[in-house]
Amino acid sequence: MKKTITISWGSIGELWGKPIFIVYVSTSRYTHKFMEENDYFTVTHFPADMRKQLSYLGRVSGRDEDKVAGAGLTVEFTDLGNPIYAEADLAIECKKLYGQQFDANLMPAEQREWYEKTGLGIHYMYIGEIVHVWKK
Ligand SMILES: Cc1cc2nc3c(=O)[nH]c(=O)nc-3n(C[C@H](O)[C@H](O)[C@H](O)COP(=O)(O)O)c2cc1C
Repeated sequence: MKKTITISWGSIGELWGKPIFIVYVSTSRYTHKFMEENDYFTVTHFPADMRKQLSYLGRVSGRDEDKVAGAGLTVEFTDLGNPIYAEADLAIECKKLYGQQFDANLMPAEQREWYEKTGLGIHYMYIGEIVHVWKK
């Protein structure tokens, strides 16, 4: 499985005594289905000169195109069988610990209105335990 999305909403930290990475994925994204179906996800960081590819990955949906091919990325697989990219300068492999959609009733009114106005599916929060990190 190699489905890719550009994200800027995310954070790194610690929970339940484990190092964690949190990503936020809207239900409008094709990627959301794969986040639900898989036990692992990977987060990769790319060099600054790959901005064009990242913008493509964040504009086009995997429902319509093979984005990995479109961005010219080279897929490599970890020992656990999860995809990372040869072009990345940082790769983080995460084991999904927790996933839940934000409750519209618990978020600020301004944010609730933003979802209503844009029609964007409310984001899920996925907390992953960081199991491996590769850095160039
Ligand atoms: C700079 C940038 C940051 C983005 N950050 C997020 C994010 O944190 N979460 C999210 O759900 N979508 C985010 N997006 C939007 C998705 O990348 C975009 O909708 C993408 O086309 C979804 O692809 P998919 O349908 O193949 O999953 C971002 C887009 C850009 C350009």
